[in-house]
Amino acid sequence: MGFLAEYDAIAAQGGDPAAIAGAQATLFNTMLDADPKGLFDELREHRPNLAVTPNMVVVTRFSDVEEVISRDECFSVQLYIPKMNRLSGPFVLAMDNTPDYTAFISILRLAFRRDDAPRLVTLAAQLADELVQEALPAGTLDLGRMAQLAPTRLVAQYYGVPGPDEPTLLRWADDIFQDVFHNTGDDPAITDKATVAGQQMCAFLDQQIADLRASFASGAPAPQTVIGRLVHMQNDPSTHLADDQIRSQLIGSITGTVDTTARAVLGTFQTLFEMPEQLAAAQKAAAANDDATLMAIIWEAMRFHPQNTIIPRLCVSAYTVAHGTDRAITIQPGTLVMAANFSAMFDRIELDAPEEFRPNRPSSNYIHFGYAQHRCLGEYIAQVQLRETVKRVLLLKGLHKVTSPDDPKVAYGNLPTAMSVTFEA
Ligand code: HEM
Repeated sequence: MGFLAEYDAIAAQGGDPAAIAGAQATLFNTMLDADPKGLFDELREHRPNLAVTPNMVVVTRFSDVEEVISRDECFSVQLYIPKMNRLSGPFVLAMDNTPDYTAFISILRLAFRRDDAPRLVTLAAQLADELVQEALPAGTLDLGRMAQLAPTRLVAQYYGVPGPDEPTLLRWADDIFQDVFHNTGDDPAITDKATVAGQQMCAFLDQQIADLRASFASGAPAPQTVIGRLVHMQNDPSTHLADDQIRSQLIGSITGTVDTTARAVLGTFQTLFEMPEQLAAAQKAAAANDDATLMAIIWEAMRFHPQNTIIPRLCVSAYTVAHGTDRAITIQPGTLVMAANFSAMFDRIELDAPEEFRPNRPSSNYIHFGYAQHRCLGEYIAQVQLRETVKRVLLLKGLHKVTSPDDPKVAYGNLPTAMSVTFEA
């Protein structure tokens, strides 16, 4: 039975409206985890804008997803506030379109500078090389581990935040990411781990910020790291963030770097291993050092297994999405709205032949990094790290995915949580 038949059957049985809504929400969330593509394909064709419950709406067509994300005055990011404030303090992703948001994001753009790109290419390539070198003698590579360690090391060296040691930094980033972005049911075990990680990370960063300020006061030059720049910018009132504000932005950005990049690498390879001719094309581009072609293949591969399937918002002012169409839906304040970016990237009205793998699509077809006000601050960092990591793996001779009894092990929207590859040692 398809999702909608099952969903309608719950309502048809009758009974307490709250119990019906609860059962329908559970069914939706289960499908979203287990088979988001199947769920969205069905919704896009039959009920593109569905009020899953009176308090939860999902929009699935490309134009409606962009409409929701870009109407920031009606669809707020406030829903991120409770978790982010508990774990790290106010972070830009949880700030609506206020003067404070503009000040914070502008300062962050001076710290994460786009003109660092050439330096980041060298660093990301070197980090990926090191991780591949470690695996060479054995002829097997734990891609999940590599995909997490590469961005963790980038955080250590470029952001200037190594943590007390690498495993701890990775654990902090992972524990906080899982709670903020995947713990929709508020599982206390996940929440508790994240709370501890947040406290430890706050204490570590407070000390690091104090140490950096003391070193600047004694005349040391500012290191060209993200944290070094943020602390150095405290000297100028126009770029000053208080210590706790720097700390919150760093925790959010580090959390937004490690698992996102890792999941994007695994999603890319999940698609490439499912499509051997595309894997061959990617290997050819990597061997020719043709970065433009390789990047185009990665964006397209991520479309089939994207890092995130939905972008959530809280409706704060009544708004009609897709006004004037037969799928128009008026959303009331207090409603959780899921803008399904995965679904949008398969909308046949927006994309030509969406089921086909076509690496020459316009970049506007992709919503990997969000849209409008909160579009990802780190997309240029992510692009470099993704490409350089994926490239190093593609260059391995005789590359094969190891299949295991749990394979493909997927979670949170059809993404593998682990993957190993073999190659000619
Ligand atoms: C492949 C890797 C990445 C993916 C797929 C990704 C995806 C996203 C998405 C979808 C959003 C928008 C969320 C929303 O609107 O609710 C976002 C925002 C954000 N990302 Fe990323 N991200 C990645 C890597 C990074 C990196 C490396 C950084 C490091 C700086 C970063 C920092 C941020 C920040 C600060 C925001 C919030 C921006 C704002 O509120 O204006 N992300 N990211």
